[in-house]
Amino acid sequence: MRIETQRYTERFGSVRLNEVQKVLELDSGRAGAPDSPKEIALLKIEEEVIKDYEDKMAIAIPVKDEKLQLFEGVISGVPHDCLIIVVSNSQRKRINRFRMERDALSQYCHFTRRSAYIIHQKDPVLAKALAESGYTELLGEDGLLLNGKCEGMIAALLLATLLKKSYIGFIDADNYFPGSVWEYVKAYAAGFSLATSPYSMVRILWRYKPKVSPGMYFRKLGRVSEITNKYVNSLISANTGFETEIIRTANAGEHAMSLRLAQLLTYASSYAVETRELLSIFEGFGGVLPLAQHTAVKHGVEIFQIETRNPHLHEERGTKHLQTDMLLPSLSAVYYSQLCDEDTRENIVKELIAQGILKQKKEEPPPPVIYRAPCEINLEKFQEIMSENLASYSALAKD
Ligand code: GDD
Ligand code: MG
Repeated sequence: MRIETQRYTERFGSVRLNEVQKVLELDSGRAGAPDSPKEIALLKIEEEVIKDYEDKMAIAIPVKDEKLQLFEGVISGVPHDCLIIVVSNSQRKRINRFRMERDALSQYCHFTRRSAYIIHQKDPVLAKALAESGYTELLGEDGLLLNGKCEGMIAALLLATLLKKSYIGFIDADNYFPGSVWEYVKAYAAGFSLATSPYSMVRILWRYKPKVSPGMYFRKLGRVSEITNKYVNSLISANTGFETEIIRTANAGEHAMSLRLAQLLTYASSYAVETRELLSIFEGFGGVLPLAQHTAVKHGVEIFQIETRNPHLHEERGTKHLQTDMLLPSLSAVYYSQLCDEDTRENIVKELIAQGILKQKKEEPPPPVIYRAPCEINLEKFQEIMSENLASYSALAKD
């Protein structure tokens, strides 16, 4: 793969925020002599280097009642050397969609000779492991893991730790193009290969997000992302004193982290999760608030934003979903960050009123539900309980 070099990096305390880097060539040929200094604006990342990172990476796929054909397409796009971890919250009554996902994954693993894990979000052993390790805020009144994409992602990252991976990448299950899934993972690996810190994150920016209505229109950015980016940048500007537009991926569902970084972050429920991850990094390592962890501060936290070539086409869920499930929680995450200044707060309220989500000026957005960082729970206990049952989550497990 050949991508643009990091031409510009902004700093927020010990956080290094890299400007968007474009993918120029999906396949850059055989390993050869390094690029000459003339080509230094571009970086060639050798296939073998990418494979080394894929080997250390778990790809987590959160899924809830998606079309089986889409799910099958997504798993087929994950490079062979990555470990697939599916966390499903799909229905099990009447039509057992979870069972269908498990069967599809199992058949796929059988024929492709690879291993994968699949677990239901409401799995009782998972709930017990969370309860006994002290992660009780993740559990509902029924004692099981709460609904939500973020909640599934946390389960996946705990499992990836248990399975001794070093990186975790997230890919949604409703993606129409297996080729784009493949490219996201290559971009994750490319980003990690450029990192100089073990605390790193790669966030994907889609080159186009087509809309089919009628005919196809190749939009650059999602509607929600544009708005969230603006307020995250406003928060950074207020804290550093320098206006910035560096963040272009505030809602990036497709993103990856080193597990060392993932262990240190706090998470916000459901779709506020990606925005909150950034805020958690700025709060913990930006140098304005007390530092979250000194080793990470010493190395610095590195954020890469990579623009991929494939258009991103996924399930359309309508305006109400975009506004109340995504925009409101994302902006609430910014509004309630300890780093958020008064101007940004006021502008967020104005934005939410203009969008018809809040009714009047005095109204405040509802605060997000925040989950503690995984490093604060008893990970040994979690692993002890889950290890006993691990084989049953393997896609190749027999009933
Ligand atoms: N495990 C689990 N549990 N998965 C879930 C749940 C749940 O409760 N709810 C949704 N999912 C899965 C979906 O099946 C899909 O694979 C993925 O999570 C994302 O959900 P979507 O409903 O497709 O989200 P979206 O398309 O509106 O938003 C996506 O893109 C945004 C950026 O544009 C998400 O990735 C957002 O988090 C992201 O901000
Ligand atoms: Mg989607």
